Amino acid sequence: MLVLSEMTNKVLQFPDLHSRTNGRAARAAPRTSPEEVAEALSAGMVPPDAHFDQFLDPVARALSGQHWTPLAVVVRAAEWLEERRIRTVVDIGSGAGKFCVAAALAGHCHFTGLEQRAHLVASARELARTFGIESRVHFLHGTLGSARLPSADCYYLYNPFEEHCFEPAERIDNEVEIGVERQARDLAAMDELLARARPGTYVLSYNGFSLRMPASYRTVAIDRELPNVLRLWRKAAARPV
Ligand SMILES: C[S@@+](CC[C@H](N)C(=O)[O-])C[C@H]1O[C@@H](n2cnc3c(N)ncnc32)[C@H](O)[C@@H]1O
Repeated sequence: MLVLSEMTNKVLQFPDLHSRTNGRAARAAPRTSPEEVAEALSAGMVPPDAHFDQFLDPVARALSGQHWTPLAVVVRAAEWLEERRIRTVVDIGSGAGKFCVAAALAGHCHFTGLEQRAHLVASARELARTFGIESRVHFLHGTLGSARLPSADCYYLYNPFEEHCFEPAERIDNEVEIGVERQARDLAAMDELLARARPGTYVLSYNGFSLRMPASYRTVAIDRELPNVLRLWRKAAARPV
């Protein structure tokens, strides 16, 4: 069942505050306010990632270029969510909350982020507070398969299970179990979620998620122009017998 789908393109690297400090980890003074970033996103514009990332804590900010969804992808995803009147989204592996918070600012959905690393959950909650969006964005600390998730119109995945194949230096940290056995358990839990989801459920994936989609899911939108492939799937209605 394992396939490395949508992995042909490079991970996005927008210019960010770090590249302008010649690698020094100094935090540049914010050039834009949360209100300005929120206004741009709600107008469908794509602010530079650095303008958003400055509101992440330093650890989460340093991880952004490789591990968090770029704003260009968030804005395209938010368009699709609005067009299809999707109202509730669960981000499986929500990291520091960048996707959930930015997509909430760019649209009208409610987001629940599930994240296994406690420090990232804390960062994500702080990020939602910074943007004053806590009423539409919530974060749960837990692991797929163990945590109780709300049902949702759509599940979002930015390749959360691929970290198990990364070199140690490319991982987020060593605070959680990493390895092929853990990956197999995660993929089995995801397979079960997809099987149980009601017909009409959407799955939004950025850069794939290491699992072959069941045949009942059809691609309904795809964008290959972004740094990696963004794809929206929908579960077909069960055939009458
Ligand atoms: C590539 S990051 C994406 C973060 C976020 N979705 C975004 O785009 O900004 C994947 C995240 O998934 C989390 N993760 C991976 N497997 C998980 C699991 N089984 N349960 C909960 N979180 C998981 C990782 O800790 C990591 O923070």
